[in-house]
Amino acid sequence: MAKSVGILTAGGDSPGLNAAIRAIGKMAMSSSGIQVIGFRDGYRGLMENRTMRLDEAALSGILTIGGTLLGTSRDKPHRMPVGGKVLDMTDTMVDTYHKNHLDVLVCIGGGGTHKNAYRLLQKDLNIITLPKTIDNDLAMTDTSIGFDTAKGIATEAIDRLHSTAHSHHRIVVVGIMGHNAGWLALGSGIAGGANVILIPEMPYDIDVVADAIRQRSRHGKNFSIVAVAEGAMSKEDAAVMQTALQTKESAETKTDKKEAKALLTELKTQQTDNILSLTKQLESLTGLESRVTILGHLQRGGSPSPVDRLLATQLGTACLSMIHDENYGVMAALRGDQVEAVPLEDVVGKRKTIPLDHSWIETAHRVGISLGN
Ligand code: F6P
Repeated sequence: MAKSVGILTAGGDSPGLNAAIRAIGKMAMSSSGIQVIGFRDGYRGLMENRTMRLDEAALSGILTIGGTLLGTSRDKPHRMPVGGKVLDMTDTMVDTYHKNHLDVLVCIGGGGTHKNAYRLLQKDLNIITLPKTIDNDLAMTDTSIGFDTAKGIATEAIDRLHSTAHSHHRIVVVGIMGHNAGWLALGSGIAGGANVILIPEMPYDIDVVADAIRQRSRHGKNFSIVAVAEGAMSKEDAAVMQTALQTKESAETKTDKKEAKALLTELKTQQTDNILSLTKQLESLTGLESRVTILGHLQRGGSPSPVDRLLATQLGTACLSMIHDENYGVMAALRGDQVEAVPLEDVVGKRKTIPLDHSWIETAHRVGISLGN
């Protein structure tokens, strides 16, 4: 029977993290004296043994609060910046686990957090994870904590941009987060009534996008909202990216691999520039004045939606049941309306992007939204 549970939150923050921490803590307290401690700032706090007692007082009043009371970071156990060097600190984290007499460590996060949790699992620690990412790109779970709230925020932003785009007869390009997946842009774009939605899964043709906007003008609608996922790419950029990926895979020398990696990083860091240049191109191709709004971290801020509060509470309490059953090395995943324990090796290293036959894509087509291809 577990007596001591540790929790950490890692990666980008998401609304609903506190709700998950609260659910684990509340259920632990009500089940025969399990103690819960939190580690501050993700894996860094685990390395430095910076803890926080998650008792009744700490858990009170946090259900509706955004962010994470534990703090977070993107630090990785095996590549941790320490004193000007980058070191593998995995064993130090294993020591912290034992020093605190933990029976299990719960890691709440997205793709990176899961990879890191898996590293600790391979060191024979008892690990359970909870899926959290506004990008909704974690494999093996229908959805993740934070996605619904971020989708709501982006939808409201698109709603508000409509009236100003309409009044000025402008194109408004909206940059939406999502890393290399288009869930957030497609979901909020459909819900907010965007006229064009560009997602990484479907490289776009700028002429097709301009045509869609011109066609709206011909029908008397001389304004347009273009929702662009941060990872969306033109067909030309996608081809360059594909070649760089292939070069990286087949590189025989370290130098070739390094060059291909550098090119890939450069392509990824150009995302904001790409959205700005897309806006300028559309202005010149259509003759309509254009503006750009990058939503950025606004999408991760503030109070979680009811859906995320409910999801976090459902996953958090299911996690406690897994602890009772000593079912370790798993992610508590939402599948249908049930929470299931999915082995971590089935989650790690995979990315859930939008399948091209997904019903949201068909839905977008059916209401006349251009996906730019
Ligand atoms: O993974 C969540 C996310 O918000 C992505 O959508 C985005 O690409 C990234 O994090 C931004 O990271 P950071 O908060 O480190 O700027």
